[in-house]
Amino acid sequence: MDTVIVTGATSGIGLAVTRALLKRGYRVLGVGRCEKNCKTAESELEKEYPGANVRYYYGDLMQQREVKRLSETLRREIDGHCEGKLYALINNAGCARSWYATTEEGYEQQFALNHLAGFLLAHYMLPCLKKGRGLIVMTGSGSHRHMKVRWDDIMFEKRYHPLLAYKQSKLCNLLFAVALNKRFSNDGIRAYVVDPGLVKTDIGFKDTGRLVRFVWSMRRRRGAMPQVPAKTYAFLLDAEPPEGGLYYRQCKQAGYSRCVTEKDADRLFELSEHLTGVVFGKET
Ligand SMILES: NC(=O)c1ccc[n+]([C@@H]2O[C@H](COP(=O)([O-])OP(=O)(O)OC[C@H]3O[C@@H](n4cnc5c(N)ncnc54)[C@H](OP(=O)(O)O)[C@@H]3O)[C@@H](O)[C@H]2O)c1
Repeated sequence: MDTVIVTGATSGIGLAVTRALLKRGYRVLGVGRCEKNCKTAESELEKEYPGANVRYYYGDLMQQREVKRLSETLRREIDGHCEGKLYALINNAGCARSWYATTEEGYEQQFALNHLAGFLLAHYMLPCLKKGRGLIVMTGSGSHRHMKVRWDDIMFEKRYHPLLAYKQSKLCNLLFAVALNKRFSNDGIRAYVVDPGLVKTDIGFKDTGRLVRFVWSMRRRRGAMPQVPAKTYAFLLDAEPPEGGLYYRQCKQAGYSRCVTEKDADRLFELSEHLTGVVFGKET
């Protein structure tokens, strides 16, 4: 039974992906931000899929020390029950914000959760991914297209614009995938980004202000149900996608921004190492 970690598995797209994977017989280690939501999701899924192999772990992935703590628990679980092999890491947890807010460690929250958390979790899980010749899948967004990385102010400290900060974090998902493929494809690791399209979830209602909530309540009406993008994750995990694929929407390769270059991917990778204090893939 192949083991998959899904972050942000308590609601929206992550919960739908977890369902799709359990139906297919994967063992899922779900990650959520709070104990209560994790317990609720776990018990619902156990009822829906009797005998399914699902366990939830909680931690605030915005905080790097929490990513480290959680990774140690996940590593113990995978070493103890899955011969140390991880088949896929799905970096899906994400957030939107209305104003500038930082994590306890001082990082802009959208950048911290939507990019840095996935970067750090992939670093800690790399030995298991190498053993499992695994996949790393990020939940991206079509909104990355109209954005460049603000190298001189990556956390928007000088002039905060919540939507641009969100879009940049989603561009970072693609740059990270490019950097991973360059560095670890010889180890059998492949990285992809899924564009879920517009999806009817509660993302715009969480820790946001009135305006964002109002706009999101209108916008999400046109969104698909989370089961729709979940199919693309299952597609990537079930079948070996063609060589060179990176960005997928509705189970097909899709076009992405010209700003996704190897040069910027390397630059972001080095910056992310600096901001997380790790040398990617090197155990400390
Ligand atoms: N909805 C869309 O139209 C859309 C479009 C493009 C991309 N996306 C991306 O899809 C991903 C999932 O979003 P969604 O729309 O499914 O929203 P969602 O329903 O709010 O799901 C977000 C998930 O992340 C978890 N989470 C939030 N903050 C966290 C933290 N600090 N630490 C750990 N987990 C945390 C949430 O936990 P709780 O359940 O406790 O809140 C939830 O499980 C995000 O990366 C988002 O950027 C969404």
